[in-house]
Amino acid sequence: MMINKILDDQEGATIDRLLGLIDKSPTAFHAADQLMKICLQAGFTPLTGKESLKPGDCCFLTVEDSAFFAIKIGENPLSSGFRMVGTHLDAPALKIKPNSLIQQEGVWLLNTELYGSPILTTWFDRPLSIAGRVLIDSGNPLSPEARLIDFRRPLLVIPNVAIHLNPTVNDEQKIKPQQMMLPIIALADGGTAASHDLLTLLIASELSVEPERLLDADLYLYECTPGTRLGLNNEFIQTGRLDNLGLAYAAVTALTESHTQTGINLVACFDHEEVGSRTSQGAIGMTLRDLLERIVINLGGSRETFLDRLSHSFLISADQAHAAHPNFADRSDPTNRPRINQGPVIKFAANRAYTTDGVSAAVFRKLCQAADVPCQTYVNRSDVRGGSTIGPLFVEHLPVKAVDVGNPIWGMHAIRETGGVSDQIAMARVLRHFFELA
Ligand code: CO
Repeated sequence: MMINKILDDQEGATIDRLLGLIDKSPTAFHAADQLMKICLQAGFTPLTGKESLKPGDCCFLTVEDSAFFAIKIGENPLSSGFRMVGTHLDAPALKIKPNSLIQQEGVWLLNTELYGSPILTTWFDRPLSIAGRVLIDSGNPLSPEARLIDFRRPLLVIPNVAIHLNPTVNDEQKIKPQQMMLPIIALADGGTAASHDLLTLLIASELSVEPERLLDADLYLYECTPGTRLGLNNEFIQTGRLDNLGLAYAAVTALTESHTQTGINLVACFDHEEVGSRTSQGAIGMTLRDLLERIVINLGGSRETFLDRLSHSFLISADQAHAAHPNFADRSDPTNRPRINQGPVIKFAANRAYTTDGVSAAVFRKLCQAADVPCQTYVNRSDVRGGSTIGPLFVEHLPVKAVDVGNPIWGMHAIRETGGVSDQIAMARVLRHFFELA
């Protein structure tokens, strides 16, 4: 059978770079750091609040180590509105609790809690590792030193119980997180003595810091196996955290690579989307609104200018969408059935769980047309509630015209999610076109 080349070499390299970025981004902390590196390489500079901004400036801001905003100031920055793409950097996972070590049946387990809504069965029998942020004593109690940590090697497993001991495992199974989602990290008897501060010692040695200086940490489990392309024609992309690092990457590279533009363009990558966004680094926080107002004032505008420009602004809320599933065909709406590699998806919901309305959908359709990219639509089945995005939360504080879009993927919130390589390229092209509008 002929193998079709779906992407040209340059597009293939883009997919490889995305897989590399996701591999190095097991948590939102790491994702913000990786996106910052892309921006630094593209000549963006960190916002200090002390600079005076001018057309042509490119800058970025990281908030609480896990949200990331990248901004490009165009010609006549106050003559039009803000062109914004909103995404999120967090993904459902297992979070390690404080005092996490439990000894049971001769092994050390870690106590965990759920972050967001992972598909729990997909976490069994995988090589897992630990990553996150560690807080180290800096001498100043109010500002401990934050350092990223990523063990990048298989350290833990949550084994299934054998089918012989659980014959109904393939029928509907209830997963009890407190009992069943605790990973094994070591044998507790014989060999090297593990103790209650096994985890502290492990972290201290990984960071080359004295254990007494470790104050606290935000640690998550992740599957430490890199993502891959797959399919006969390499047409799929399969990796953890495709929701939503795929679109965060598309948005940031669309901004860094975009040319001529007016107004103020920005990408907002929030944290905590999966748990409700109610934090300063989440989409409900006032951080972005305050930042935009300060930028307008810095550029010589006033609060009045800022408020006025909002009515000329547009937000593309970009978060992955559900592709119709060949084995679960009845789960999709009868007439809106997104297919992989057939282009970005506009998401509609009468209950406004998505921001899209006729006007904003029309805008996005036209952007796709102009970028020569096909476009699809998603609506929930009428008997399914479905999910939501940062879109509706974003416009609570920044009332702008907005559309919710995404790329079609299978298995959203599984430990690995599957999407299409062409869709990834197509979305980046549409977003870039958006930023380059005159
Ligand atoms: Co998402």
